[in-house]
Amino acid sequence: KDRPLIIAVDGPAAAGKGTLAKALAHHWGLPYLDTGLLYRAVARRMLNAGLDPAGDASYEAGRLEPADLTRTDLRVPEVDRGASLVAAQPAVREALLERQRSFAAATGAVVDGRDIGTVVFPDATVKFFITASPQARALRRHHQLHKDAPLSGGDLAKAVEEITSRDERDSSRDVAPLAQAPDAFCIETDHLSAQEVFAKANAIIVSCLK
Ligand code: CDP
Ligand code: CDP
Repeated sequence: KDRPLIIAVDGPAAAGKGTLAKALAHHWGLPYLDTGLLYRAVARRMLNAGLDPAGDASYEAGRLEPADLTRTDLRVPEVDRGASLVAAQPAVREALLERQRSFAAATGAVVDGRDIGTVVFPDATVKFFITASPQARALRRHHQLHKDAPLSGGDLAKAVEEITSRDERDSSRDVAPLAQAPDAFCIETDHLSAQEVFAKANAIIVSCLK
């Protein structure tokens, strides 16, 4: 009863995890932690040092600073891919685990990622798994990054392929793969607006807290 409120939001790339997590954090007055940024920042450090993100990234993970997480160059294709390469390394995940737990320990938090409900906070108060088809997710990411710029059939196919291969790497790694926790509520969002997803998720939280 007195445990801090922890809401876990997992799912594949560009499903709307961050959008939902931010809205829930605002609604419940909780801090929001985007754990993908941790892996992105490690990948960024590797790339900036001229290193291959597939190589041992544990040293860079151990050196992460708050400033690394606020860089403006974390959401570019080479970092999408690099993050998922460093994220497959057990030593990198280990180095970032305690940071994620201590962020939420005192106050509670809304936390989004891939392994929040399964590994980071297996005892989270409420767990969500947010998903949508690869096509819907590729379109969402395109509109998010490029506003109203048109997307050709070829570019859409390429975006779907990039998202699908990243999901596949995230789902098939040995350590903390992307997976739905058995006790997570799955919301399939292909035909839902962000507001509708929020309404569904929030109703679930309210009923879990009763
Ligand atoms: O955090 P994640 O990568 O899962 O996705 P996001 O950055 O929260 O959302 C990707 C884009 O999808 C944003 O531009 C959202 O506005 C949009 N979107 C959404 O989040 N939820 C929907 N049901 C529909 C669109
Ligand atoms: O926003 P988007 O869903 O595209 O990606 P992200 O949440 O920023 O995560 C980038 C990459 O970090 C993912 O593809 C995963 O490989 C990794 N990640 C992870 O392994 N575990 C987490 N808890 C969060 C992200």
